[in-house]
Amino acid sequence: MPTNIFPDRDKFLERPAKEALLKQKGLVIWFTGLSASGKSTLAFALERKLYSEGFLTQVLDGDKIRNGLNNNLGFTADDRNENIRRIAEVGRLFSDCGVVALSAFISPTQAIRRMARSIIGEANFFEIFVSTPLSICEERDPKGLYKKARQGVIQNFTGISAPYEAPQNASLVVDTTQYTVEEATQKIYTAVIKKIRASE
Ligand code: ADX
Repeated sequence: MPTNIFPDRDKFLERPAKEALLKQKGLVIWFTGLSASGKSTLAFALERKLYSEGFLTQVLDGDKIRNGLNNNLGFTADDRNENIRRIAEVGRLFSDCGVVALSAFISPTQAIRRMARSIIGEANFFEIFVSTPLSICEERDPKGLYKKARQGVIQNFTGISAPYEAPQNASLVVDTTQYTVEEATQKIYTAVIKKIRASE
């Protein structure tokens, strides 16, 4: 814990004031699943849907975060932990100002997601397990990374040479082999909208 840092609560404009301004409630929608499972695709589709309904959102995904804020991190267990810790802190900042953050990262272990949940806070954390099976993700292989992982060119690759622990307590499970993107997005929208809509 940092020493000699004392946030002055009196200076803060509280979250409900910001939520009232935006006419919505802040939330972090946390997508977890294997590489190529469809996390980012669903996050971006959900963002468009929410935008069309008048809600302000921010997608946090690997392309943005690993090329910017977290461009000094790799894929060791320690680096993944730090990756997710920072993302959870950023998600919390967004939800604290009434914005809906859509986070799309593998976040491979129970422990890593428990950390994210505790940083963000139980009430603000909506976990979605994108449960697309490894065989399908590997077949999709949009970036050719599974192939390289099988060849041993990439080490510590989630699902091949590094673990992925499926969530036991996700708020929602979406298998992208069962639904179109539109159907899956609608399913997620229906599950989250009550948490986002300002109370009457
Ligand atoms: S996490 O494990 O730290 O949550 P994150 O979601 O940020 O991972 O990044 C995963 C993306 O990085 C993958 O979709 C893939 O494109 C790329 N990647 C590169 N190397 C690896 C690796 N060793 N394991 C998993 N993904 C990797």
